[in-house]
Amino acid sequence: MRIGVSLPANLLVRFDEIIARRGYSSRSEGIRDAIRNYIVDYEWLSGEKGEKVGVITLIYNHHQRGLVDTLTNLQHKFSKLIESSLHVHLDEDNCLEVVLVRGDAKDVKNIAEKTMALKGVKHVKLTITSPGEGL
Ligand code: NI
Repeated sequence: MRIGVSLPANLLVRFDEIIARRGYSSRSEGIRDAIRNYIVDYEWLSGEKGEKVGVITLIYNHHQRGLVDTLTNLQHKFSKLIESSLHVHLDEDNCLEVVLVRGDAKDVKNIAEKTMALKGVKHVKLTITSPGEGL
């Protein structure tokens, strides 16, 4: 199937540089692989069960209208889950936050997914570990 997608120019330039370095024959092949990785990542996250400790790292543009309020509201809503957070003003536009969460896997997944879906959030990385499990 063919699809049309709107992307910021700098994102596409960066993507093209990477697929050229990796030796992809076409942009389409790179996009297919990126989508497969997205699905694998989702399935890995969906398979996590039980009590987890997680670190959510996010980078966002604080100029994005309403985003700071939305993030604050989200973090207050999940305040029982959040152990600690760190905010760094990276440059004029971008903020980095590291949020340490602890709770049931489905709640950890939920807050990470709600965060990554917000407009203006450029990158979200969730790392999960299990307290005590065989350690
Ligand atoms: Ni900031």
